Amino acid sequence: MTLQGVLNADLGQGSINRNIYGHFSEHLGRCIYEGIWVGEDSPIPNTNGIRNDVLEALKQIKIPVLRWPGGCFADEYHWKDGIGPREARKEMINTHWGGVVENNHFGTHEFMELCAQLECEPYINGNVGSGTVQEMSEWVEYLTFGGKSPMSDLRGQNGHEEPWKVTYFGVGNENWGCGGNMRPEYYADLYRRFQTYVRNYDDNKIHRIACGPNSDDYNWTEVLMREAGRFMDSITLHYYTLPTGDWTDKGEATGFDEAAWFTTLKKAMYMDELITRHSTIMDKYDPEGRVGLIVDEWGTWYNVEPGTNPGFLYQQNTIRDALVAGLTFHIFHKHSGRVRMANIAQTVNVLQAVILTEGEKMILTPTYHVFDMYKVHQDAELLELSLDGGSYKLGDEEIPAVTATASRDAQGAIHISFCNLQADSASQVKLDLRGLALGDLSITGSTLAGDKIDAHNTFEQPEAVAPKAFNDFSLENGALSVTLPAMSVTTLELAVK
Ligand code: AHR
Repeated sequence: MTLQGVLNADLGQGSINRNIYGHFSEHLGRCIYEGIWVGEDSPIPNTNGIRNDVLEALKQIKIPVLRWPGGCFADEYHWKDGIGPREARKEMINTHWGGVVENNHFGTHEFMELCAQLECEPYINGNVGSGTVQEMSEWVEYLTFGGKSPMSDLRGQNGHEEPWKVTYFGVGNENWGCGGNMRPEYYADLYRRFQTYVRNYDDNKIHRIACGPNSDDYNWTEVLMREAGRFMDSITLHYYTLPTGDWTDKGEATGFDEAAWFTTLKKAMYMDELITRHSTIMDKYDPEGRVGLIVDEWGTWYNVEPGTNPGFLYQQNTIRDALVAGLTFHIFHKHSGRVRMANIAQTVNVLQAVILTEGEKMILTPTYHVFDMYKVHQDAELLELSLDGGSYKLGDEEIPAVTATASRDAQGAIHISFCNLQADSASQVKLDLRGLALGDLSITGSTLAGDKIDAHNTFEQPEAVAPKAFNDFSLENGALSVTLPAMSVTTLELAVK
């Protein structure tokens, strides 16, 4: 069977915010320490303490924005413990994540240095759960105040005279859970209070982000938008894909069967319904669409790798994760009117990581390769693409066999990305191309496919899953025919010669 579709290259649907390709790095397990920060004295090559291999890999995928320091850690973090001479910094116990000692060596200055090296925007998440209004307000002053003030003086004493630019600031994280177990009414009032003191200094304009719902908690969104919508620039949404849906036994990252493959993809697709329904509530209180929806935690969450600290959330990453990433980006693109940022959880060594490290070794995961293949969609114009995605059936259930998205970049090149979700068969797609001159088109492609359902990279075989040049397509009578390998993510570039 051939799946039929139409690409209307002259029907732009708005811009795909590059921040949809954002990341999240928490003080959790080996994400910050070992994964990103090794310190200046480490034998691992680094620049000002930040490991060079990870940095280069992240630059390659043009990471646009990075959220820090949590997550649950954010509502236990006291930023003043993480400034000044490192040897003198106060130690704490990271009670959420493994009960390990946090030496606070990676703090505000180190994070801002990381963002400078990555050339990405910082997204700082403040502490509402165990912090004070004064503490949050002083952090913003320390970061962004350019004149003479107690906090800017302190920043200068710590070696950074100039203020930094900080656009994105989150007022608490998961305040319905680890961030204080609050009711939405209570948090809405706290949000209104805290954000009052998140000031704009000089020409630094802060985008204030309110803590949003846990997956389908529509009441949280309703209350927040009603009570505090006018005080926020964005509200967050957190949704994780667990194969089993059971937090006590989430399912395995590798060694799973086709049923787990199928349910994982189906559960990842639930993101579409979540965004649609939260957006409908937002539309009621914000019909002009001023307030953004930021999905600042998303991705797969499995049982940890055997033998690793359960509090470190370290998991492998397979071709299944690549498909979760690809289809989720298609959903974010579709909702790019409201979805202005998303941050995969998390960048290195935690959950659906794009990079795994072991000592001085580093590997790129299949999810990394999707970020790389999809960077062409950053800030591009979303194009109208309709596709009868067919159906992939398992037992009584079905999901589309193929999902797709298309955009046009600033140079006029069109990129079409496809996910073939079928574990055991290729999919044929025929797309009518409308609204573009076909005569001078040159088409190239790359594909990321698995040779088995849990294909993944290891430190011994780092290239087992890597993109390859793709040419299984033809253009005839205005129609583009493509044969997508089983379990694959594919991107085609249509450029005018
Ligand atoms: O990403 C791991 C954790 O998941 C975050 O700390 C928290 O916000 C969420 O529950």
